Amino acid sequence: MDKIVIQGGVALAGEVTISGSKNAALPILVSSLLTDGKNTYTNVPDLRDIHSIGQLLAHLGASVESHQNILTIDASGLNNSVAPYELVRKMRASILVLGPLVARLGKARVSLPGGCAIGARPINLHLKGIEALGASIELKHGYVEASAGKLKGADIYFDIPTVGGTENIMMAAVLAEGETVLRNVACEPEIIALADVLNQMGANVHGAGTSVITINGVKSLDPISVSIIPDRIEAGTFLVAGALTKGDVTISHCEPDHMREIINKLEQTGALIDIGKNSLRVRGVDVIKSADVKTMPYPGFPTDMQAQFMVLMAVADRVSLISENIFENRFIHVSELHRMGADIEISGNTAMVKGVKTLYGAPVMATDLRASASLILAGLIAKGETVVNRVYHLDRGYEAIENKFAALNARIKRVRDNGELYG
Ligand code: UD1
Repeated sequence: MDKIVIQGGVALAGEVTISGSKNAALPILVSSLLTDGKNTYTNVPDLRDIHSIGQLLAHLGASVESHQNILTIDASGLNNSVAPYELVRKMRASILVLGPLVARLGKARVSLPGGCAIGARPINLHLKGIEALGASIELKHGYVEASAGKLKGADIYFDIPTVGGTENIMMAAVLAEGETVLRNVACEPEIIALADVLNQMGANVHGAGTSVITINGVKSLDPISVSIIPDRIEAGTFLVAGALTKGDVTISHCEPDHMREIINKLEQTGALIDIGKNSLRVRGVDVIKSADVKTMPYPGFPTDMQAQFMVLMAVADRVSLISENIFENRFIHVSELHRMGADIEISGNTAMVKGVKTLYGAPVMATDLRASASLILAGLIAKGETVVNRVYHLDRGYEAIENKFAALNARIKRVRDNGELYG
């Protein structure tokens, strides 16, 4: 598997352009299943997860074409209701096809995604929502088997605000008969982006971005053309990188409005941030101040930025407490950061991070997507060479990350399986 090799110690400088959001693109691409005809998506990030969802949609009978960052999907040929294990296991978000398949075909057989490195990640709330809309659900041989006549609107309360669950049920309810009210839903910008897309298709969705979404079912939806919103987690990762390396980085094509809590936390650490309409400029300072963080559903601090922020705290002036409240096992990067000299103690869902003066380059192993990003960040400030092994996860969620860092003067290279150097 490819490796990323970094020589630390360079203050990043220059401008980086943010790609389209992976987490917005995935449900939006899946929503193409709700229409007959050709949907066109621009600003789609070129990522492994996007290829995986494309493969799954093609398997279901859609015709999928991609050209650079433009993707077209035509689901007129939708004829298969089975999402098999081999395709679902690559990416949990594949479960998002459940709602649209039941809405369009009246049935779906979708492999259970199973656990992953950051925790059990159940889908009980997705299933509860689909059942409430009138589908009957059985779990058989590792698959969710759902069948329904015409789905019927319902009043559904989510015990936990779930991003994927909200998206799945929204996509099922837009074609259900009558009114659906979803309560205690996730409020992430990606939910608003999906609701906007569904409304553009002709759906009737209100309240996205608040905790209650109301949907009035329609008979059919039309294909659309849409641009994917910027990736707030990629932008946040570069924001931390600028502050961490005491650099001066301009982050363009981002949406600062989606990043208020990340910006706020970085300012607490002393970083200087200029906020533009679609850009941010971050300048690092000599002394990084410690700041506590609790991950929360949006608009709280995102769990997807926890690992990256921890690296900043690893070299801050005092002690900080980082609590992970979304996923139970999302500290796997800590043991790798220890190997680079970080002083971090975990107790339950809280990490106590004591700032140290220096991190040291080491061979480390990438374990999940955001953990991988945190190891790259650590490598950027470490003394000597850091080799991040198994960058498979990184390629799932960051488009050309080594090229983007290299353009900001970082000394970073990808070493291909066959030993070839890139970057
Ligand atoms: C999405 C994001 C992921 C992010 C996460 C939280 C995508 C493709 N992925 O994941 O990057 O880290 O939101 O912001 O958008 N839960 C249940 N039952 C369910 C569903 C979820 O108990 O049926 C729990 C989860 O275990 C977790 C919490 O709800 O503790 C939030 O998870 P959820 O918002 O569903 O995460 P994902 O949609 O999987």
